[in-house]
Amino acid sequence: MSANDLTIGIAGLGTVGTGVIRILQAERTYGGSDRTVVLKGVSARDRSRDRGVALDDVAWFDDPVALARSDVDVFVELIGGEGGVALEAVEAALDAGKAVVTANKALLAAHGMALVEKAEAANAPLLYEAAVAGGIPAIRTVRDYLAGVPIASVLGIMNGTCNYILSEMEMGGYTFEACLAEAQRLGYAEADPTFDVDGFDTAHKLAILSSIAFTTRLDASAVQVEGIRGIEPEDLAAAEELGYRIKLLGIATFVDGSVDQRVHPTMVPRGSALAETMGVTNAVSIRGPAFGELALAGPGAGGDATATAVVSDLTDLARGLAPRPLGRPAGMLTPFRKAEASGHYGAFYVRLPIADRAGMFAALAAAMASEGISLEQIVQKTPHRPEHMPERAEQTVILVTYPTTEAALKRALSRIQADEVVVREPHVIRIAASL
Ligand code: HSE
Repeated sequence: MSANDLTIGIAGLGTVGTGVIRILQAERTYGGSDRTVVLKGVSARDRSRDRGVALDDVAWFDDPVALARSDVDVFVELIGGEGGVALEAVEAALDAGKAVVTANKALLAAHGMALVEKAEAANAPLLYEAAVAGGIPAIRTVRDYLAGVPIASVLGIMNGTCNYILSEMEMGGYTFEACLAEAQRLGYAEADPTFDVDGFDTAHKLAILSSIAFTTRLDASAVQVEGIRGIEPEDLAAAEELGYRIKLLGIATFVDGSVDQRVHPTMVPRGSALAETMGVTNAVSIRGPAFGELALAGPGAGGDATATAVVSDLTDLARGLAPRPLGRPAGMLTPFRKAEASGHYGAFYVRLPIADRAGMFAALAAAMASEGISLEQIVQKTPHRPEHMPERAEQTVILVTYPTTEAALKRALSRIQADEVVVREPHVIRIAASL
């Protein structure tokens, strides 16, 4: 160790933490800066576990807060969770004026503004490239490369677990549960995978990117969120028939000084870059009047890919680069204003479990027409019924609308439901004809 080294302490030795250690051991050879990044302390729950990395010369801390206050230049938080000890340790490090590197999007979504203000007050860098889209340099691109350039929208596939599940369900015909279990085994999923499948992880990442892109204060509570739990194999099959693939998209758009932030499953045209983004790969598309579209794709989850982003932040610090956490000083960010007319404008796919009866199609079309919605397709899916089986009362009808607003569709669907034709909640998927 030399006086010129950048010393770090890592709290959390899961797949990302051990990935960082493995890369740093190789980094000694490659060298990202004239300062060497040296691991000085670690903290994790179980000291006795063999993690396949050498920790002989590294100080062990049972308490991550003590590690955050210890004699290291950078505290690396890889514990996870939106509060608790992760928050306590990050606050302790910033209070002590230390640089913090974190992969924790839930923490940033919940406490981002307060942490950014604390970091700026202490003149301590707070870097978090790993928090958004795993190994893709999405934060850097928006915060540094596009700094000062107007951005109209940021959108994409930002959750590896969901994209993996949807891809496997479609390609391999596996169940949702089996695909989720495999995503957990591969280290893609969050400790609590409901964050992934219910869309919150994407919402956290979207809110962070959106704040930097549109230079507003960070507000993750303003994201309209819907996950992939309701997607059935018949939706994937119907999407294929219609020429689409279903993807969980995060979409943030700047509209007249306000921001529309949404996360929901979306049918995207087969052949488009988003539709062809399969498995754990993430894709982030940034659009603006001056540059058109900038598209980034890469591994969105997984220990080593996410560790790459952590090491990239550490190398920036070793090089003496310390950008403002949200690009601009917190005091210069505009207040977050949620767009009034929020939601998808376009075509919709609606799966309706209905009680079959004469005149049902006419009733559905009339309810849609009452809201000015025209139907492009209306298809009744009659399940195969062996001779000896009794007639099933429940049938599935699939509607594809022409472009309309979410609000109009919602009103039409409540009319249909009031008519008691629909026996369970309709399932709606937005269709993005061009993305
Ligand atoms: N659980 C996250 C995902 C990890 O699946 O994308 C990366 O943030």
